[in-house]
Amino acid sequence: MGADHIPYVCIATAVNMAGGQPISLGNLRAVRELCQRHGIRVIHDATRVAENAYFIKEREPGCADMSVAEIVRAICDLTDGCTMSAKKDALVNIGGFLALNEDDVFDACRSLVVVYEACTPTAAWPVATWRRRHRSARERSVRHIKARVVR
Ligand SMILES: Cc1ncc(COP(=O)(O)O)c(C=O)c1O
Repeated sequence: MGADHIPYVCIATAVNMAGGQPISLGNLRAVRELCQRHGIRVIHDATRVAENAYFIKEREPGCADMSVAEIVRAICDLTDGCTMSAKKDALVNIGGFLALNEDDVFDACRSLVVVYEACTPTAAWPVATWRRRHRSARERSVRHIKARVVR
């Protein structure tokens, strides 16, 4: 028990498991401070981060003039790494990624990919998927996000 036994706290932006509730930058900052006090990483499930960023832009005081990309950056600056299922907000047909600030932890995780996923999958993705991933990140417009979240 205790902080030494907690490798990370997971923050899922606009977690859909609990009804799609977004987190504010203010609340994320508070989580970050609490975790930092106890030496615990904050790892971000960024699967639906664009939608969460849109909500922050629309609702959080002081964020209206920030772009969605700037808000995503601010979220990432408050976390130690992220997982991303790219089929959702990144609008690609397959794949995802793990990104970590700590090289040694990243290397340890990469070894586990061999155990759980058979190979480091990035090399196996079709070229078209890579192209779509890069393009979708640029083309994802606020209009598209709004169409998804305003129902
Ligand atoms: C926030 C979040 N994380 C992770 C996942 C899981 O993604 P995958 O379908 O790649 O397992 C989902 C799926 O909807 C999700 O909404």
